[in-house]
Amino acid sequence: MPRFDRPTILMCPPDYYGIEYEINPWMSRSRQSDTALAREQWKGLYELLVSLDVDVQLMEPAQGLPDLVFTANAGLIYAGDAVLSRFRHEARQGETSVDRVWFASHGFNTLDLPEGMDFEGAGDALFCGETLYGGYIIRSDARALQWVASHIGCRVIPLQLVDEHYYHLDTCFCPLAEDEAIWYPPAFDEYGQRAIREHIGHLIEVSDDEAARFACNAVVVGRSVVLNTGCRQLEADLRDRGYTPHATPLDEFIKAGGSAKCLTLRLDGEDAALWPEAPAPS
Ligand code: ARG
Repeated sequence: MPRFDRPTILMCPPDYYGIEYEINPWMSRSRQSDTALAREQWKGLYELLVSLDVDVQLMEPAQGLPDLVFTANAGLIYAGDAVLSRFRHEARQGETSVDRVWFASHGFNTLDLPEGMDFEGAGDALFCGETLYGGYIIRSDARALQWVASHIGCRVIPLQLVDEHYYHLDTCFCPLAEDEAIWYPPAFDEYGQRAIREHIGHLIEVSDDEAARFACNAVVVGRSVVLNTGCRQLEADLRDRGYTPHATPLDEFIKAGGSAKCLTLRLDGEDAALWPEAPAPS
C-alpha cells in the first residue's frame, strides 16, 4: 500500500484534451477548447495545489483519450485499493487500461467491478464521514455502488441524479468535512434531497448560476477550497464557515463538463473521509 506524508493528488496534463465527442450536455464539437488556454488553466490549477503543499503526481496523457485529464474518473480510492471505473460510454472505455497501469505501478491494489455494472469512480462516489455517497443512473449503476460499498464494508447512500447537466455526483455535491458539504439540491430527486438533509448537519447550497459555474466541483485540501472563478456567493459562504476559497479559471474544461474536482483524484483520502485515520484492512 502506498504511503503518503501529505495530501496527494493525481492529475493528467491536457496534451490531448479536446471536445471530440458529446456525452454530456456541456460538450459540443462545434465549441472546441483552446489548446493553449486549456494548458494554461490546467497549469494554474496544478500550481495552486502545489502552493497548498499538495504532492501532485502525474499520469502520462494518451493520444485519443481526451477526457483522461479528468482523473476523478480513474477510480475510487480506498486505503490502498483502487476500484477501477467501468465507463458508461464507449468513448471513455479506453481510459481504464491506462488507469490500471498507473495504479498498479504506484502500489495500489486494482479491483474490477463485475461486468455489466457501470461505475465512474470518484466522479460518482464520495465519502462524507464514514458514509459513501453515490450518484447513479446517468453514469453509474446503483448496483455498482452497492457492490463497491460491500467490498469496502461501509454504508452507501445512493442518490439518483435527475439533471443531465449534473451527470456525476461531483458536479452537484462536495463533502467538506465529516458533517459538512456543498450541494445543488435541484440535481437530486426528492428522496435524495431528503437523505442528504437527514445525514449531513451543515449544508451549503449553491445557486443555479454558480452550479453552472461548477461551484460544487471543488477540491478540498484541509480548510482550503479550490474552485472555478465566478462563484462569489459560495466563496462568501465558505469564508463564513471558516474555509479559504481559492478561485482559478477553468472555463476550457467546463466545455467538456468538468472543473477543478474532475481534474484531480485524491490518493490519500479526501479530507471529509474518515477512513484515512483508521483504514480497514482490505
Ligand atoms: N467529458 C467528461 C465526461 O463527460 C467529463 C468528466 C468530468 N468528470 C467528473 N468527475 N465530473 O465524462
